[in-house]
Parts: sequence; C-alpha cells; structure tokens
Amino acid sequence: MGKNKHLIIVAALVILTTLVLQFLVFGPMFRLPTQASAEGILIDRMFQGHFWMISFLFALIMVIMIYAVVVFRRRAGDEEEGPHVHGNTALEIIWTIVPTIAVIGFGVWGTVTLAQLLEAKPNEMVVEVTGKQWQWSFTYPEQDVKAPQLVLPVNQPVVLHMESQDVLHSFWVPEFRVKQDLVPGRTTTLRFTPTLPGDYKVLCAEICGLEHTGMVADVHVVSAAEFASWVEERSVAIQYADLTPEQRGEFWYGPEGDGGFGCNSCHSLDGVAGAGPSWLGLWLRQEQLTDGSTITADEAYIRNSILNPNDQIVVGFNADVMPQNYEELFAARQAEILASDGIEIDIIADIIAYIQSLE
Ligand code: CUA
Repeated sequence: MGKNKHLIIVAALVILTTLVLQFLVFGPMFRLPTQASAEGILIDRMFQGHFWMISFLFALIMVIMIYAVVVFRRRAGDEEEGPHVHGNTALEIIWTIVPTIAVIGFGVWGTVTLAQLLEAKPNEMVVEVTGKQWQWSFTYPEQDVKAPQLVLPVNQPVVLHMESQDVLHSFWVPEFRVKQDLVPGRTTTLRFTPTLPGDYKVLCAEICGLEHTGMVADVHVVSAAEFASWVEERSVAIQYADLTPEQRGEFWYGPEGDGGFGCNSCHSLDGVAGAGPSWLGLWLRQEQLTDGSTITADEAYIRNSILNPNDQIVVGFNADVMPQNYEELFAARQAEILASDGIEIDIIADIIAYIQSLE
C-alpha cells in the first residue's frame, strides 16, 4: 500500500496544481484580446492547448520534486545510507515515448491549423494593402475605392494582397489573431474572416523606423449594408476645379488612402515636431540649417525642400527621412488630373498655399 499511497497523493496533487495554474494563474495572466475572426477560434484553441500542456508539465515536475523533498527528507537520528538506484527502464521508456508523441502531436496540430489558415475560400473579397513609412492605405479593386482605414463587412472572407513601398512592415490586428509581413519587392497575402462588428486597429509589428509605433490604422467591421453605403460614399470623385488651392493643399497633405500624399505622417499641424518639422507657423519662419546658415521658409525654400529633401536640413532633423520621389509622384498626379478634369494644377503651389494658411 505504501508505494501506491504516494502515487495516488502525487497524482491528485498534480491534477489539482494543473487546474490551479490553468484557471487561477495562466487564465488571468495571459488574457487574449477579444476574438473577432473565424481564424481566432483555431488560434485560441492552440493557445489553450499549449497552456494546458505547460500547466501540466510544470505541475508534474514541481509536485514530484517538492513532495519528495518534504516526505522523504532525512529524519533526526537516521544515519542509514539511502538505497542505491541504477535506473528504471520502464520509466525511461515512458518518459521518452510520451513527450515524443506529445511534441509530434503539437507539430501536426500546428501544421493542420496553418494549412486551414492559408486555404483560399470561395467568394473572398480582395483588399490591396500598401505599407510605407509610416502609414497604411487600402485599395478595394472590386469596389474601386481607396481609403486610409480598413472597412470590412462582417462574416465576409477577406484576402489581403500586401505590398511595401520601402522597408519591412507587418500587418497585425491582434483581435484577428493573424499577422503577416509586408516585404519590399514582393506581394504577400493574408486571409481571415472578421466575425465580430466593432472598431479595431491595424498595428505595424515590424520595427520600421522613427515613427514605427505611430504606424496605426483604423479597422471597422460593419454590416454588409453599412459597407455598401461606405463604398458609395467613398467613390464620389473629387472635383478638383471646385476647390481653392488651399483646400487642395489640405487634401494633398492628408493620408495616401484618402488620395493625399501622406505628409501628415511626419508633419504635424499643432507645432509639435515629428519626423519632420510641424507646418504650424512654418511660413516665413527663420530656420537654422545644419550647415550653419540661416534661411527663411519662403516659397523657394519650401519648394526645394519638397523636391530635394536632403538639400537644406533644419537643425534637429535628419537627412534621408523624407521620400525623394515627390517630383515624379506630383507630375504623375498632375497629368492624371489634367487628363480627367482638364485643369492644370501645381501641387506644390497648393501645398504652399495651405502652409501659408496655417499661421
Ligand atoms: Cu511599419 Cu513598423
């Protein structure tokens, strides 16, 4: 009975400790964010499986160790040598085979789950995702809509085709549980089905430079009807001719997803410097350059700073931060607008008009 009594007590303690760890320690410690996608069910099931395994293994080792130290300790007056133990073949076979099966089992489980996550679904909606330092933009080719936020109809399977314009970024919405890198020169894909209407955030999960932590975009999961009306609202074309240069400048300043050039990700309007100087009060400000000279932020200076961003760097800022391709981007857009609206626009003049209005 003696040996069996110890085994029964240890087994009971292992089970008890496993339950305590799972429900009172890991449960409250590693609370996962809201589960908002079909894929989340598979991922969370794996998380739970791993937590159960970790709880059990921790309990198994700790309970046996502490039990042995306490129950089999040397008593006062006990001068006897302990029994000489050579090994236990049965035990060694068990503790080799059982963990091997467990590890292979988890491996198979992971592989099957990954295959399910990557599988194309019928009736997927395509969204093209572009990441650049430091903003996201989303294009819906079937709906012919572009936006700085990701709006998705609930229960609609989505496939993202993702591209980076500069460095590595990583698309991550914690509530959807899936994550994928954006790799320059390559299109990567990510699939999921949002299941819970609500507001979430896309985070960038790959260190990508100065404003990496600010590379965030809104995600809205909405009903099919709300999605349809959002698409309709977005697809109204902008009438450039009806806008003043200043209004157009404000538009160019905005996020790429809105049709702007994303100046907003580095230049604030509240006087607080970001990766670049704030535009508030910039017009005709005296600036100290890194070469020791002083300039006035007039039209010639601003124009040159947009076209040749590394030419005149203001003290406190760095070269090679601002993209150097605005000349081509502006020329292409101006040609597009000339072709579609029949008006000639000078985007830099619009931007300068907007900066002037920000005094
Ligand atoms: Cu993009 Cu970090």
